[in-house]
Amino acid sequence: MSLDHPAQKPHDRLAAALESEMGEVNTLIRTRMASEHAPRIPEVTAHLVEAGGKRLRPMLTLAAAKMCGYPGPYHVHLAATVEFIHTATLLHDDVVDESAQRRGRPTANLLWDNKSSVLVGDYLFARSFQLMVETGNLRVLDILSNAAATIAEGEVLQLSAAQDLRTDESIYLKVVRGKTAALFSAATEVGGVIAGVDEAQVEALFDYGDALGIAFQIVDDLLDYQGDTKATGKNVGDDFRERKLTLPVIKAVAQADAEERAFWSRVIEKGKQEDGDLDHALMLLDRHGALEATRDDALGWSAKAKDAMSKLPRSDLREMLIDLADYVVARIS
Ligand code: IPE
Ligand code: IPE
Ligand code: MG
Ligand code: MG
Repeated sequence: MSLDHPAQKPHDRLAAALESEMGEVNTLIRTRMASEHAPRIPEVTAHLVEAGGKRLRPMLTLAAAKMCGYPGPYHVHLAATVEFIHTATLLHDDVVDESAQRRGRPTANLLWDNKSSVLVGDYLFARSFQLMVETGNLRVLDILSNAAATIAEGEVLQLSAAQDLRTDESIYLKVVRGKTAALFSAATEVGGVIAGVDEAQVEALFDYGDALGIAFQIVDDLLDYQGDTKATGKNVGDDFRERKLTLPVIKAVAQADAEERAFWSRVIEKGKQEDGDLDHALMLLDRHGALEATRDDALGWSAKAKDAMSKLPRSDLREMLIDLADYVVARIS
């Protein structure tokens, strides 16, 4: 962390360095999330967009493009595209996961209904495609449309893998790489591509986003057990209640004796949950050191992200992205 701002989080320093471009991105998001014909669309999108969100992914795109010397203007469109795709996946994800809280607010599926969330999510996907077409760059269309397909594949793979105790760490990694890291890696990669840097740098940007995204999702899954609802804006224990086999549980199941296995089978595979089961699960995670082991894995991915970033030319933004890799593991929100 830079000595000038010892108290500032990497995420805040990045936001400060990208303030004017992020202002343009937010304006673009606000204009394009509107709809003349269906008032439900701006109601739902405003509910989610105005709740904020960390805006991590658009900042990654802007930072990547800027550190590669791109003078603009299309990194703003790309950053907005990435946030639109992200917002669309959140609307769909909360329907699939039957989640009640997002960004500290009731979810759109709870306030309106599943139909509105699915259709407004579709609308945002379509709007994201319009935005990226405006860049006139076929390669970024290829990268972002592939990412959109890969996210959907990751979420669908999770449907079958999540409630099956045979799901191991390699399947988990496949899910996470798809549903989360694909958008992080696309976000950084398109920044380099629009700037026209050489292939080695584009690859390093991709590798950074991929590893950062994996670390980010591992920590998200950790926060689902150890987090504070006030900080995350999401309900703690959601993954357990949704019977989602995430990395902490996969690690505990791998070490379970017969009795513990029967417990995991009942609550995850059969979905027969009773009062006190979440506390029992937490006790088992603790018994096997599963939460610490999960954090260690996240740290490993964060180190990989930093290695990849160190292949790019030195700059202030590069240092912030390197620090960001520490922040995604240390974050509480
Ligand atoms: C939530 O992402 C979805 C995951 C991949 C875990 P963020 O935690 O970046 O969500 P916002 O945009 O800040 O709300
Ligand atoms: C997030 O998955 C991935 C996408 C939104 C595609 P999760 O279901 O783990 O994320 P949260 O916990 O709901 O944010
Ligand atoms: Mg979810
Ligand atoms: Mg989660």
